[in-house]
Amino acid sequence: MTMDLCEALKSATKEAHERAENTQFMRNFQNSQISLEHFKLLLESLYCIYVALEEEMERNREHPALSALYFPGELHRVSALEADLQYLHGEGWREALRCPPATSEYVRRLRHVGSEQPELLGAHAYTRYMGDLSGGQVLRKLAQKALGLPASGRGTAFFTFPNISSSNGFKQLYRSRLDSLELSQQTRLQILDEANRAFQLNVEVFEDLQRLGPSALRNGSSVPEGGAEIRQ
Ligand code: HEM
Repeated sequence: MTMDLCEALKSATKEAHERAENTQFMRNFQNSQISLEHFKLLLESLYCIYVALEEEMERNREHPALSALYFPGELHRVSALEADLQYLHGEGWREALRCPPATSEYVRRLRHVGSEQPELLGAHAYTRYMGDLSGGQVLRKLAQKALGLPASGRGTAFFTFPNISSSNGFKQLYRSRLDSLELSQQTRLQILDEANRAFQLNVEVFEDLQRLGPSALRNGSSVPEGGAEIRQ
């Protein structure tokens, strides 16, 4: 008997998950050794990625392999990222937005899948949203502590899902939706491959950000009370 899709996804991406978790960037984050500059770079990169992912999901929302996974109210991250970037960079963040090379590569893949193979887009949604729902709370607290960001959640909106009351409950629902998709054997295998590719793209993004930012060690900079707005 074949495994349910969500079980297959979890086991097919187990090693890739370990690689992502163990990138220097993620290790630094978990050790509270993230600088404000790296944190801003991460949010900028995530903004580029989620704009592409969410536009492609929106465009393909009626596709039979995606409609069951379409939860804009609960999951979408673009407006949270906009609020965080506005807070951390202040006005003009959009003009100053950086989209590093590995991030552009990820965006290109999302656009390609969205227009040529939308049945595989769910693999990208799974990789990002299920990861965000799993690690978000911990990462939010780490970022707040390391960077002196307010407990009100300003600057870390990306990590909270105000329209999801129980992340475990929602993950269960999402898993059951994945399992309910009617897919050919070939598409199923392609989805497993694409999820691995999505993890690998994330690893490359983190490696890129690690190289681009200043020393990953905390550099003492933190956001003053009131956020970037008051520094102007
Ligand atoms: C699930 C930890 C980074 C994607 C999880 C779970 C934990 C975890 C504890 C829950 C497992 C469960 O519910 O059974 C971490 C840590 C990370 C990290 C500590 C690094 C700081 C990432 C990254 C991605 C990712 C970078 C992808 C971009 C996922 C996915 C799941 C998950 C897709 C759901 C697995 C499933 O239940 O099918 N992670 N994670 N994680 N994570 Fe991560």
